[in-house]
Amino acid sequence: MSEGTIAIASDHAGPSLKEEFKADLEKRGFTVLDLGTHGDESVDYPDYGKAVGEAVASGKAERGVVICGTGIGISIAANRIPGVRAAVVHDVTSAKLAREHNDANVMALGVRVVGPEVAMDCLDAFFTTEFSGGERHVRRIGKLG
Ligand code: RB5
Repeated sequence: MSEGTIAIASDHAGPSLKEEFKADLEKRGFTVLDLGTHGDESVDYPDYGKAVGEAVASGKAERGVVICGTGIGISIAANRIPGVRAAVVHDVTSAKLAREHNDANVMALGVRVVGPEVAMDCLDAFFTTEFSGGERHVRRIGKLG
């Protein structure tokens, strides 16, 4: 995958990593839809997870990236939107398997948990790994609703 639109958002914990992710995604040929936040003023992560989830579910974006302190709260928010499969990733293996097995369409990351280099490695793995397909994975994803 190297074209299309990626929706991205973070709460106040993540604007600087969000900028790095945006630059990297643009270099890969994606159009980036930045849904905020843009400063360090405290905001509520559910608003940003929901915004990315809605962009992906509506087809405005092919995939999404969400960032908060742990990646947990914002992934829960994104996952409340039907059609979203947001995965919290911590390393290349989790990012890769989230794509191969879960066909995750949103990557969630915690800046207070994952260092900047590993974060970039996760982004690379998430956007260069395809869903492996196959009857069992398709069946399981189908059960997610
Ligand atoms: C905000 O302080 C923090 O709670 C948030 O970034 C995130 O970690 C929530 O899951």
